[in-house]
Amino acid sequence: MPSTQSRYHEVYTRWKSDPEGFWREAAQEIDWFKPADKVFDPAAGAYGQWFVGARCNTCYNAVDRHVAARGDQAAIIYDSPVTDFKRTISYAELQDEVAALAAVLQDMGVEKGDRVVVYMPMIPEAAFAMLACARIGAIHSVVFGGFAAKELATRIDDARPKVILSASCGLEGAKVVPYKPLLDEAIELCASKPDACLIHQRPQLECSRIEGRDLDWAQEIARAKSAGRKADCVSVAATDPLYVLYTSGTTGKPKGVVRDNGGYMVALKWSMGNFFGVAPGEVFWAASDVGWVVGHSYIVYGPLLHGCTAILYEGKPVGTPDAGAYWRVIADHGVVTLFTAPTAFRAIKKEDSQAELLKKYDMSSFRALFLAGERADPDTVKWAEDILRVPVVDHWWQTETGWPVVGNPLGLGALPIKHGSPTVPLPGYTVEVLDEGGNAVPPGTMGAIVIKLPLPPGALPTLWQAEDRFRESYLSVYPGYYNTSDAGYIDEDGYVWVMGRTDDIINVAGHRLSTGGMEEVLSSHPAVAECAVIGVRDPLKGEVPCGFVVLKSSTQQAPAEIEKELVGLVREKIGPVAAFKLAITVPRLPKTRSGKILRGTMKKIADGDPWSVPATIDDPMILDEIGDVLKSRGVAG
Ligand code: COA
Ligand code: AMP
Repeated sequence: MPSTQSRYHEVYTRWKSDPEGFWREAAQEIDWFKPADKVFDPAAGAYGQWFVGARCNTCYNAVDRHVAARGDQAAIIYDSPVTDFKRTISYAELQDEVAALAAVLQDMGVEKGDRVVVYMPMIPEAAFAMLACARIGAIHSVVFGGFAAKELATRIDDARPKVILSASCGLEGAKVVPYKPLLDEAIELCASKPDACLIHQRPQLECSRIEGRDLDWAQEIARAKSAGRKADCVSVAATDPLYVLYTSGTTGKPKGVVRDNGGYMVALKWSMGNFFGVAPGEVFWAASDVGWVVGHSYIVYGPLLHGCTAILYEGKPVGTPDAGAYWRVIADHGVVTLFTAPTAFRAIKKEDSQAELLKKYDMSSFRALFLAGERADPDTVKWAEDILRVPVVDHWWQTETGWPVVGNPLGLGALPIKHGSPTVPLPGYTVEVLDEGGNAVPPGTMGAIVIKLPLPPGALPTLWQAEDRFRESYLSVYPGYYNTSDAGYIDEDGYVWVMGRTDDIINVAGHRLSTGGMEEVLSSHPAVAECAVIGVRDPLKGEVPCGFVVLKSSTQQAPAEIEKELVGLVREKIGPVAAFKLAITVPRLPKTRSGKILRGTMKKIADGDPWSVPATIDDPMILDEIGDVLKSRGVAG
């Protein structure tokens, strides 16, 4: 069903016929210190590398190069509804802030290639921190604030940062969430301690500093500014890492997704105009968190590379103060495009199903809503379309890819929308669906969604110091393809339908979590003999985790007490973001005769979906037991 207005087919065909020519042309939008010797070198890295030989600086392209033409334009608007505080930072001010912070980092001993962990709430200093690292060629690793000390410690031990940047607290709705005690605890747990920490003291919560290790952010910046200290943008190889972003893997050990500089800039810049359809100077808002890939690509780097105004919003879709919060931000700042997770719209719909609050705001600037991070259920998409009367664009991608894989490219002219499908593969991506044997399946048939190698610019070249894990996790399952670990199908019109994961990753309120990691935590409790964690459908968060535990026969403690301890343990070890609220004691778990726990069938029972008894089951009775216990706990759908 081709659209006559859209240039999508023409552009996609152009890319397919000459990928290197396509990306060479896109690369002209970036300022390079030295152009690439080869646009793509198939012999470099695990599957080839982009812009080999080129030299560049991502901070220069995101900040400095805009100062001459748009120095007075807002680069970042920080909007914090709980503190009722707004701050507009122009491109010229951003350059000053970032150059001063980069100089402070240099004074703390940070050099090109060193890692810097950023554990910060949604304040402008978090973006300054990322850009300051990019400026001096240091590799940032931002850790989401909703993770607990142990998760932070695991990331610190893997990245081995020279310095950590943090703040006294975050604001989660009306709650003040202390960050500094978690940082101290994490460093305590770490084998690899940083040399120093730079702590941003927020007015909402005083924190203590450890003598000899912790420096005060404001004092150090003031010192650098009064001494006129500013760091220059250093030249890095296009293939050098810009950042490492940890994401959930199938075990408790997260994967350090590496992002390079050159390819990432080219891909993000291309996506801003051609996919999101925004122009330099316009206001772009990604309502996510800097701790996630959406925050990296579309709160900070994408909008700034494109010369847009980026919104940094430290609030929730509801409760700060009400379900009209998003409309207020759009109206106040003239937002053109909003990007968020479907769960945010489910939350708004739950509070204000008739969208009465929308009537209070001038939405005339608003052109499009983009949804990603989890499956966009058709009901939510339709509701958003009805109330907003602008295109609602579901698009699919992953931390690993860094930018959208499948979507409806508004900048090229929208294709017809099919609710439930994120539409079509974007230039750069050949998406296929394979069966278990690695054979292509006919249209409409479910299978594993894969991307033909090489991946385009911007996608991960490897995992941080874990090339073998990279090959094993992504490249070896289907030779010649990148395995997305998502399942779905492609229909007769070439539309991709993403239906769920093939591994044990679940998506809770758009946050990617590993049930395997939660199982590791449950198993560490002395009373637990074995366990299984599944994601159960939830009307607000999409999915929430539910843990089943079998207790050791020697246990004297009451099951209810243990269940409470287990909920506390996951919160303590993984963090509140896991939203682990339900542990259920069962006498036994359903398994195949070879001992594999039937998590898929348990999920179907919990979700109230049709299920059949697997032929390989050891004892079919156990499935009824699971159904009964779920019903008794009010879970079975
Ligand atoms: N720092 C510290 N704690 C955090 C945090 C952060 N950055 N982010 C979340 N948390 C905490 C929350 O306070 C909550 O703690 P609680 O159990 O004490 O209440 C817990 O982690 C779960 O958070 P969340 O999943 O966000 O649930 P919520 O009930 O607070 O809010 C939504 C639900 C739908 C409103 C919220 O998830 C949302 O706005 N999502 C849409 C946008 C988005 O961020 N998407 C992610 C990627 S695109
Ligand atoms: P993350 O790495 O946190 O961005 O999570 C990526 C995963 O989220 C994907 O592999 C999918 O499982 C899921 N996901 C993201 N966007 C979509 C979407 N539009 N539709 C369906 N699933 C999605």
